Amino acid sequence: MSKQAKVAILGATGFTGEKLVEILLSHPGTEVTYLSSRTEVPVPYSKLFPRFLNKTDLKCETLDIEKCCKAADIIFLSLPHTVSMDFVPKLLAEKKKVIDLSADYRFKDTALYQKYYKLAHKDSKNLPKAVYGLPELFKKDIAKSSLIANPGCYPTSIILALFPLVKEGLVEKKIIIDSKSAITGAGRKAVIEYHYSNISNNLWAYKPFVHQHIPEVSEVLKLSTGTVIAPQFTPHVIGVEAGIYSTIYVTFTKSVTEEKISGIYSKYYKDCPFVRALPGLPRLKDVVGTNFCDIGFALDEKKENAVIASSIDNLVKGAAGQAVQNMNIILGLDETEGLL
Ligand SMILES: NC(=O)c1ccc[n+]([C@@H]2O[C@H](COP(=O)([O-])OP(=O)(O)OC[C@H]3O[C@@H](n4cnc5c(N)ncnc54)[C@H](OP(=O)(O)O)[C@@H]3O)[C@@H](O)[C@H]2O)c1
Repeated sequence: MSKQAKVAILGATGFTGEKLVEILLSHPGTEVTYLSSRTEVPVPYSKLFPRFLNKTDLKCETLDIEKCCKAADIIFLSLPHTVSMDFVPKLLAEKKKVIDLSADYRFKDTALYQKYYKLAHKDSKNLPKAVYGLPELFKKDIAKSSLIANPGCYPTSIILALFPLVKEGLVEKKIIIDSKSAITGAGRKAVIEYHYSNISNNLWAYKPFVHQHIPEVSEVLKLSTGTVIAPQFTPHVIGVEAGIYSTIYVTFTKSVTEEKISGIYSKYYKDCPFVRALPGLPRLKDVVGTNFCDIGFALDEKKENAVIASSIDNLVKGAAGQAVQNMNIILGLDETEGLL
């Protein structure tokens, strides 16, 4: 490896920011040079997170864009949506490569953004530059881009499972999706509902019909396949620390076989090191702590309906790992560098 890329993480105290620090500190092609949060006084990162003691001497400090741009060439934004777009224009003006983990640059349509994120978009000028950072679908565009809109965690699990079948015109438009997410999907903020006593051994559904990831799935599938689907999506919170498990119910446009469906997944993902098409149904624990997306399916007796299941780690393939995968592609490194 020649020169190491200098990287900054904005929002380094959050769940995805911490995971990025973990991955990037041991990545052979990067040097972590700047960390920020809203902290008022610069504080050693290893004081906030003792597991990084002897791994980094960096301090976490209040975001200073000028300082950040001097320190790094690739900037990861692990910030809440509506916050990222305050900083992205300045970073792009300084010719930085930007990988935004928030939803701020995932939609081209500002009306859709406003409908689901309840705020007018403040940087429509840079929206056309953004590439949706799902490498399995958009690798060539990612390689040339300076602004990556890293996908949402639920959409990553859902789009990877559906894309090949929708592209082949094999599934009816009525699709039902039932996803379960670890509580870390909601970020580090303190909320009574997320206290241990409420989370442990618990499960509940939330935001049926109106979750902001429904339009993200529809928009990306429309862009990548030309087909419009409007899935019925119900997310759930489960009392585990990490992981997303999506169960997807589809009806085929014609009768299929196991071999045909397996063959389609193998064909579409043959060059995708992080997608594993399984002979059976996936299990959450097999992907937790990894950048893999495991996909499996079962057909009914008539071979007309299927249950497809897809699992990822929400903080890795659903966020920080995918962001590093995108960085690897931008830097011309092997996609798996620092991730396997
Ligand atoms: N969690 C997931 O599984 C997941 C998956 C995919 C995508 N995402 C997306 O990734 C982003 C980060 O998520 P997360 O779960 O890591 O969130 P989080 O745990 O809530 O962390 C947010 C980070 O942003 C900082 N921050 C908040 N407001 C700020 C402001 N106005 N100015 C500067 N810094 C600010 C926080 O700093 P303080 O220390 O000052 O609070 C913290 O470091 C979100 O947009 C989320 O939707 C999350």
